[in-house]
Order: sequence, then structure tokens, then C-alpha cells
Amino acid sequence: MLSRDDVFEELGIGPVWRLREAPGAAASPLTGLASPAMGWDELADAVAHCTACKLHLTRTQGVLGVGDRNADWLIVGEAPGANEDAQGEPFVGQAGKLLDAMLAAIGLARGDNVYIANVLKSRPPGNRSPEPDEIAACLPYLLNQIALIRPKIILALGRFAAQTLLCTDETIARLRGRVHEFQGIPLVVTYHPAYLLRNLPDKARAWEDLCLARRTMALTDL
Ligand code: URA
Repeated sequence: MLSRDDVFEELGIGPVWRLREAPGAAASPLTGLASPAMGWDELADAVAHCTACKLHLTRTQGVLGVGDRNADWLIVGEAPGANEDAQGEPFVGQAGKLLDAMLAAIGLARGDNVYIANVLKSRPPGNRSPEPDEIAACLPYLLNQIALIRPKIILALGRFAAQTLLCTDETIARLRGRVHEFQGIPLVVTYHPAYLLRNLPDKARAWEDLCLARRTMALTDL
């Protein structure tokens, strides 16, 4: 039987540590996942009533996440958009339809061994990009979710999820195509579905990333 280290070696995990040491890489605030500060009920309540950043002034509701709280797969997106803000669930718009199709392509379905969350729990107005202070304020919720779920693999969708979890400012183009590690959990980066809707040729690369994630999962299951 392969050990976790064997698996990581086989997958070539490790570059993330070099990235963290790279000049300009941010120091990692992502330590000490071991025990979640809040249980699910407390977390849901905290997100619903959160006023930690300015987004609470404009959001309809906080969007915690959706799916199987014991999932092997954790999908992390950027932030709720207009549809998600209205419905209280991540990825319910056009990008969500594509995400569901991407999951189906590797034999997965929303809610079935899959949990979907975002870096930000509140919608940035006008769907603008998350700002650093908003990410800093919201990150503890995602870390708490990861500590509760303890997924076997994380799929980071797009720049904000990837850069936040890996503490780097590397581009998606450089981060995708290999397996990183987040707190001992394999992490694969791919394009955000909203980006793929506008850049169809990159769907082939996203498919490669999904296959890499599926292969990684199969190895961690050995
Ligand atoms: N884009 C995201 O990153 N997350 C959502 O929930 C919806 C769109």
C-alpha cells in the first residue's frame, strides 16, 4: 500500500513550498487547520450575521456553501454573484451550470460527495473582484469549513481561490497542471467556469485539470 508521502511524490507535490519561498510570495496565514473554531450551526449563523467587511452593507445574504459536509471533494470558487446572492447557494447561475457539467464529466454531482464554497461569502457589488481586506476578513470561514469537512482533495476554481489558498500571486496559467498541497490536502487549480464561458479554447485545459484531480483522488483512495 502506498503511503501518503509516496502518493505525493508520485504526484510531484511540493512546488507550493518553493512558491512560498519565492521572492514576493506572501507569508502564509494558513496554519493550524486542525481544530475548527466553530461547528456548522455556529458557522452558518456567523456567516449570516457577519459584518466583518463592507460587503455586508450591500449583500442580500451571506452564502456559506452547499453540499455534502462529509465530502471527499471540496470545490472553492471566488464569491457569490447576483444569482447566488439572491438564492443563498453558490454557483447557481450560468457559471454554476458549467461547473455542474464539469463535475458530471468526472462522475461527480453537486451535493454527492462534493461540497462547494467560495472564498468570499458575500457578493461584491457589480460582481467586481474581491478586495484584499474582504478576503482577509472572510478567509477564517473557509478555513473553518475546510477543517470541518476535511476533504481528500480541493479543486480551486480561478485566480482568487488558487492564490488565496496557496498564498501566492502566481497566475492560473502557472499554477494549473500540477498538484499542490494545502495543509496536507492535495489541491488542484483550474480555470473559473465564468472565465471558461468566455474563453472556450481553455476548456480543454480545464478538462486536463479535472482529469488530474480525478487521478489524484484515485491515488489518495488507495
Ligand atoms: N462565481 C463564483 O466564484 N462563485 C459563485 O458562487 C458563483 C459564481
